[in-house]
Amino acid sequence: QRLELELDSIEKGGYEHFMLKEIFEQPRSILDSMRGRLELGGSHLNMAGFRAYEQKFVNAQRIIIVACGTSWHAGLVAEYLIEDLARLPVEVEYASEFRYRNPVISERDIVIAISQSGETADTLAALELAKSKGATIFGICNVVGSSIARATDAGAYTHAGPEIGVASTKAFTAQVTVLTLLAMCIGQRRGTIPETKLRELTAELHNIPTKVEKALELDTEIRQISEIFKDVPNFLYLGRGYNFPVALEGALKLKEISYIHAEGYPAAEMKHGPIALIDENMPVVVIATKDSSYEKVVSNIQEVKARKGRIIAVVTEGDTVIPAMAEFVIEVPHTSEILMPLVSVVPLQLLSYHIAVLRGCNVDQPRNLAKSVTVE
Ligand code: AGP
Repeated sequence: QRLELELDSIEKGGYEHFMLKEIFEQPRSILDSMRGRLELGGSHLNMAGFRAYEQKFVNAQRIIIVACGTSWHAGLVAEYLIEDLARLPVEVEYASEFRYRNPVISERDIVIAISQSGETADTLAALELAKSKGATIFGICNVVGSSIARATDAGAYTHAGPEIGVASTKAFTAQVTVLTLLAMCIGQRRGTIPETKLRELTAELHNIPTKVEKALELDTEIRQISEIFKDVPNFLYLGRGYNFPVALEGALKLKEISYIHAEGYPAAEMKHGPIALIDENMPVVVIATKDSSYEKVVSNIQEVKARKGRIIAVVTEGDTVIPAMAEFVIEVPHTSEILMPLVSVVPLQLLSYHIAVLRGCNVDQPRNLAKSVTVE
């Protein structure tokens, strides 16, 4: 019994749960997902899977991303990235809908399948369907040699290392990192990113592990906020632009491990329905970092405040405007707008973790959920 307990603790590297260990591994796993692919100080990108199919990417008419759950959220970030940097139209599809919808697919489409486990039945079926219609299939998987990895034409592993916690954390940030590199590769090859921008992005990508480390220092502060909100029945998460998928991901994390009902929305959609839910009992997590939609998010915060919603804002370090409006403020380091999801998601992972622990939930193996969904 004692030996078993000791082995368990060694496996968790001294952390209480795999999920917490995996959250704290992110500075390292993000670095691992870039290793060998990004030249230090220069703008040289090296993705073997991309190189073999670069002409297909150059001539592609469209990119379709298929995935489920957290991987689908990484796909949404990629939609912003690829459209922004490579100027190619992107559609992000739930694999389960795509596979049964008789979708229009042509030989000039590239389908990117994203999956941590590489075994998700719907994602596998979606890519098989696209393949049968002649599309090129690019996989982004974490598990080496998995079914999805084997079924693709080319791809890139995320190299995040084994993820044991059912709630995906380090796999998400590794997926987003690899998708950022891929968007940069496509943009470079298509001539849609100026060299200076590419250099800036490359340099900032190297700073991301340190910035994620800084975000992890918020752990104690987030635990204190979690104490206050651990018994609420509902949560709302809002974000715009690159932070919109982060809002969805924050809400998914909370509901899967704490069983609190949570919804993620693009902040501007709030007034089309969810605003009706806001009163003094509704916590609203707003990801409001300094970016091109900052002013608009500030207005959204004012709308929530006017209805007495309890605002927990994730802001950029040094912000003086939002702290005067929000009840709780979580400061993350500044980074480029397009890399922000890698940093802004971290406090949301920690928030869901601490709330779940405080509620006595089984964080690593939440009820009704499996690590890989191999049935539809
Ligand atoms: C994430 O926290 C979930 N457990 C779940 O949504 C997961 O991301 C989804 O099932 C997809 O899994 P995959 O990445 O292994 O394909």
